[in-house]
Amino acid sequence: MPNTSRVTFDLIIRNGTVVTSRNTQVMDVGVREGKIQALEPHLSARAKQEIDATGRLVFPGFIDAHTHMGIPIKTTTSADDFSSGSLAAAFGGITTIIDFTVQEKGQSLIDSLEERISRARGKSYVDFHIHVNVTDQPERWLSQIPEIIRRGFRSFKTFSTYREAGMMVTWPQFRTIMEAVSAAGGLVMLHAEDNTVVEEATQKHLDEGQLEPIYHARSRPASAEARAIEQAARIAGELQAPLYIVHLSSAAGLAVALRAKQGGVPLFIETCPQYLLLDKSVYLNENGHYFITTPPLRTRSDQQALWQALSNNQVDVVGTDHCPFTREQKEMGQRQFHQTPNGLPGVETLFPLLYTYGVQTGRMTLQQLVQVLGVNPARIFGLEHRKGDIRVGLDADLVIWNPRETTRITGQHQHGRADWSPYEGMTIAGKLEWTLLRGNVLVHNDQLMASSPDGQLIPAKSEIS
Ligand code: URP
Ligand code: ZN
Ligand code: ZN
Repeated sequence: MPNTSRVTFDLIIRNGTVVTSRNTQVMDVGVREGKIQALEPHLSARAKQEIDATGRLVFPGFIDAHTHMGIPIKTTTSADDFSSGSLAAAFGGITTIIDFTVQEKGQSLIDSLEERISRARGKSYVDFHIHVNVTDQPERWLSQIPEIIRRGFRSFKTFSTYREAGMMVTWPQFRTIMEAVSAAGGLVMLHAEDNTVVEEATQKHLDEGQLEPIYHARSRPASAEARAIEQAARIAGELQAPLYIVHLSSAAGLAVALRAKQGGVPLFIETCPQYLLLDKSVYLNENGHYFITTPPLRTRSDQQALWQALSNNQVDVVGTDHCPFTREQKEMGQRQFHQTPNGLPGVETLFPLLYTYGVQTGRMTLQQLVQVLGVNPARIFGLEHRKGDIRVGLDADLVIWNPRETTRITGQHQHGRADWSPYEGMTIAGKLEWTLLRGNVLVHNDQLMASSPDGQLIPAKSEIS
């Protein structure tokens, strides 16, 4: 072990219960030049700043691998831009967000990537990375894929639905994209819903004048998700190419994905808190239209299947699909399922919810929490040389959590632009006291401490592991 007694640190966090992907232990964390430089039971060295974390849990800063800041949906734009959305992230212990490009009609993949980066740069309070959406004329831009991967962006997102929005790729196009991406060492992500199932069910409800929010769920059944995963996994298996299923919502989809995994398909599963904690009965409430998100909320038994998969280490990542709309925006659809902008806020509540309803209920361990919100997204998207765990050499992104306090989620006290929360009133088993980004205090006790947004673009490391 190196002798750190003479080293001066910029910061030492003393006596916290440090939660890493490997264990949970009382330790001191020494930080210098934005990096974790020491992790020892008792650091005798001194530091310019010290934080006493006695009785607190010290976590790695978390990653939300699925956000949509300021994207066009229906006739409006998701309410958070990088500034407000990253602020919400910081207050929820998220120190890295991974957002998605929006490929305009006729726009190249590289141009869409540069545009998204320019929207985030100088605006984001937390570090960020970008997935590349492939939605328009895929064949035309395939030749750009190796260059994009060389620049440090290896994840390419496709949709098997949203034809009406011009975002869908056909299965032959999906195969072509997957061939090009995997040949260059990248990863294809999929929003998995079979479009034929969705369009037929949607049309039926529109024809019958069934426009209430519950028909959102009925228009997009779990069978659509399962069928799309089946198709995609078959192609991924034939090509032996990695496939990442975003926002998995159903037991039926899960069963197909797990079968494919067991059959040797290199497949990653992401789910979201809304599919673990909310069910479709909310669509019958007065504000049911607020909960319109795609895929829709499912049943209690779908939730149980997803929790079980988390317990069994079969879910790789929990992200949020953060895509908030204000109440006013949700009202624009006049409570009609097909007109209401789809998406939910989530980035600020991801970690508190998973800690409370995952770890505290015994459904997952602290180490599993660090896996799905840190280590796994970092590894899958090539950020593991900087992010995702507490280890000497990694960025000093740290969250200090007081597990002895109890707090409550209210939309009013969230930091994003949505003026409501899907989790309104839910109890949280703790309080976030500090969020540190690369050793700098970003949030302390409900106060933003950063004087300006200092989030950096984190490219994926060049070697693909
Ligand atoms: O309804 C949602 N989830 N909106 C965001 C876009 C998407 O499909 O992920
Ligand atoms: Zn999606
Ligand atoms: Zn999404």
